[in-house]
Amino acid sequence: MSKILIVDDDYQLRQSFEKLLAMEGHDVYTASSGEAAVAFVQETVPDLIIMDVRLPGMDGLATFRAMRELETKTPVIIMTAFGTTETAIEATKLGAFDYVLKPFEIPDMLSLIDQGLEAGRFMGSRVEIDRLPKSADADALIGRHKTMQELYKAIGRVAPTDATVLIRGESGTGKELVARALYQHSLRAKKPFLVINCVAIPETLLESELFGYEKGAFTGAVSRRVGKIEQAHGGTVFLDEIGDMALSIQAKILRLLQEKSIERLGGRMPIPVDVRIIAATNRDLEAALADGRFREDLYYRLKVVTLFLPPLRERLDDVSLLAEYFLARFTKEMDMVNPGISDEAMNMLKSNEWPGNVRELANAIKKAVIFNRGGPLKEGDISQAISGESPPTDADDQSVDDKMRQWLRKVLVSGKSENIFDYCIDHFATLLIKEALIITGGNRTHAAKLLGLSRPTLQSKIEKFGIKIKASVKSG
Ligand SMILES: Nc1ncnc2c1ncn2[C@@H]1O[C@H](COP(=O)(O)OP(=O)(O)OP(=O)(O)O)[C@@H](O)[C@H]1O
Ligand SMILES: [Mg+2]
Repeated sequence: MSKILIVDDDYQLRQSFEKLLAMEGHDVYTASSGEAAVAFVQETVPDLIIMDVRLPGMDGLATFRAMRELETKTPVIIMTAFGTTETAIEATKLGAFDYVLKPFEIPDMLSLIDQGLEAGRFMGSRVEIDRLPKSADADALIGRHKTMQELYKAIGRVAPTDATVLIRGESGTGKELVARALYQHSLRAKKPFLVINCVAIPETLLESELFGYEKGAFTGAVSRRVGKIEQAHGGTVFLDEIGDMALSIQAKILRLLQEKSIERLGGRMPIPVDVRIIAATNRDLEAALADGRFREDLYYRLKVVTLFLPPLRERLDDVSLLAEYFLARFTKEMDMVNPGISDEAMNMLKSNEWPGNVRELANAIKKAVIFNRGGPLKEGDISQAISGESPPTDADDQSVDDKMRQWLRKVLVSGKSENIFDYCIDHFATLLIKEALIITGGNRTHAAKLLGLSRPTLQSKIEKFGIKIKASVKSG
């Protein structure tokens, strides 16, 4: 649920964005001119701005500059037509998050929106170190164990330097939090912070994402494209899951670290860039070295400053602190009363192995809170949340699918409605919303969270489908 501002003079485009993003659960605001957009940002700070470069009156670049003067961090995605690409590149160099050529494919736009929102989250919300956050919705690195204390000191020492940092630790131990903390406590905290997930992007795409390309570098390269690293000039690039990066790209990253320059694909001139690199991995890099999957020179270059995150099982004393923090945090997020936790339940948490580390603990607490029927969390709640109800087996899915198919067939031949398709979708949506309301005891805010919808979107669906809500069975 994020606030997204769309700035475009094309009414239809604004409307399509409104529909699309509301369906994704976002709150959408629109402005038809640069002046209106700036006026909006003066009142409300959006989480993301998507704007055309060509606007009537104040043009896109001027609008961008004016918005930047008001507040510096909201990521801006620039939309551009073929003829105005250079302006978009200009804006990107001034710190716009990225740009897209119109017309664009919806899935591409949605993925860019997700990336933009993530970048905003990374830059915006502070990560507190070594103290419980004042408000339960702030992120924090929590733990008193001596390995964590050492880590906080190390963060304090290296954050304000421009040193390349490698963050290592098992999955779910907090590497991303550490990367954010490093950025926020660095001298580049006001500059861009770009996150590149090296596994999420296929090799050839990753190369052009990172380094950009010149027009004609390959079929389909119809115009110049500035890569992420160039976009982050002056700022920080977080290379997440670097252990999974292809060898060819490793070579280019090494060159970036050594020579502080990059080359766009198909380019002939090295382009100097000033970026700080933070990398993270949960892989066994030494094994990757031995297998020839990771370059030795890059390994030695990266490991100079390494921060290690301990697995949770090696600091079980921290579990209670973490559990209390997540309890406060999730109940606040879901607008519930914090039920507290019994001593037995806490002991159970403290004696678990937590192979998924802090992420797994957080998920268990969230689940226990959602299914709690009142009173402090008890052993039963915890054991159920840890083990998870047995996930549906293929056999279960099969029988559910069969039943659904039978029902659909009945509806299809019944002539029930002129618009069978919408009728069926609405039917399932109603069921889904009812289930969410039952599980949450009728709490709409909480149900909206579960469904991944904004509260107003849920509210409008409840009205549309005429869903009646029974009196709440529990508080909150
Ligand atoms: N020390 C901590 N204090 C509070 N929350 C933490 C801590 N460590 C991890 N978390 C939380 O646990 C979750 C997982 O952390 P994070 O995403 O940083 O893990 P990661 O090490 O990057 O894992 P992966 O290797 O799977 O990407 C996040 O929700 C994070 O906020
Ligand atoms: Mg991670």
